[in-house]
Amino acid sequence: MKQNKINSHIIGMGYYAPENIIDNEYFTQFMETSDQWISERTGIKERRFVNKGQGPADIAVPAVERALENAKLTVDDIDFIIFATSTPDYYIPGSGCILQEKMNFSTIGALDIRNACSGFIYAISIADQFIKTQTYKNILVVTAEVQSTAMNLTNTGRDTSVIFADGAAATILSATESNQGILSTHLHSEGKYLKELWVEAPSSKANPKLSQEILDQEKHYLKMNGKEVFKHAVKRFPEVIIEGLKHNNLTVDDIDLLIPHQANIRISKMIQKKLNLSDHQVISNIHKYGNTTAASIPIALCETINNNKLCKGDTLVLAAFGSGFSWGSAILKW
Ligand code: COA
Repeated sequence: MKQNKINSHIIGMGYYAPENIIDNEYFTQFMETSDQWISERTGIKERRFVNKGQGPADIAVPAVERALENAKLTVDDIDFIIFATSTPDYYIPGSGCILQEKMNFSTIGALDIRNACSGFIYAISIADQFIKTQTYKNILVVTAEVQSTAMNLTNTGRDTSVIFADGAAATILSATESNQGILSTHLHSEGKYLKELWVEAPSSKANPKLSQEILDQEKHYLKMNGKEVFKHAVKRFPEVIIEGLKHNNLTVDDIDLLIPHQANIRISKMIQKKLNLSDHQVISNIHKYGNTTAASIPIALCETINNNKLCKGDTLVLAAFGSGFSWGSAILKW
């Protein structure tokens, strides 16, 4: 007997933006900068930072609670956890295991992935494979970042510290026999650019992994070559979006909504221009949350759903680019 094709689709989402709102003015006490510089160069007006002592697994909890409620499921319905973060609670073990304990999941598998800003695209691509092969029915994809503790709040780090921020989102993907859901995902990497956006320490190449010398050299901060990142991002975003569309015999004209990783408003505007999309087709919330790395796409998607901006049957395109470099896209039928 012919079996129906299984797709994975999103049945519930939730996000959590830490209460601590940091406006651009905040940074002027530590470095030479201004609201005008930050707004004009990045589009960011404010972002959220966690309270001292909070890690990604902590801020994931309210996001997961909201996603479960939204999907009308309980922890017992979840078969597998994928936790995407570039700022894990600890080096070992992964934040997925910490979340499993925190929220009393049964002893289901918990996989951490470290694909930085592309984390959500990579995570849903893995979830999609497990669902399509009918290994798992309901998968929880968690994306949570605490970037604030990796920021160098001095003049040296001013190009980076005003951009990155904290936030969490949770997405529940489930098996469906309908033609809704993820049509395809497309993943790429180019490690020769690893030093253009990286945190060098702690590193297993150093012995000891962390020392006063390493701290004095400020190797534990996120460092970025902004111009290089910008140049590659504006090339890779449109490229990987077109790749995904072509794979599904679609064109740019079929896009109802594009949610790019919230890297920088100027990058989003350039993608929009290259693809000839209108303002209402490209979602942007970077002015409120900054760049929350892996959490940025799902936070924006969750807001989009809450604002009733997605209709059944819409073609939704998600695309990301970031550290690695790694980048990717996902084409969904809503
Ligand atoms: N406030 C004020 N001035 C700042 C500053 C800040 N926060 N950060 C950097 N500057 C200064 C620089 O020191 C430089 O000064 P100088 O001319 O005296 O040397 C000047 O502003 C211009 O710096 P530059 O690096 O040329 O700026 P830019 O136009 O490239 O903008 C970024 C910097 C970071 C905003 C831009 O490169 C960018 O958006 N890159 C992509 C970043 C991104 O999206 N990252 C996430 C990827 S996932």
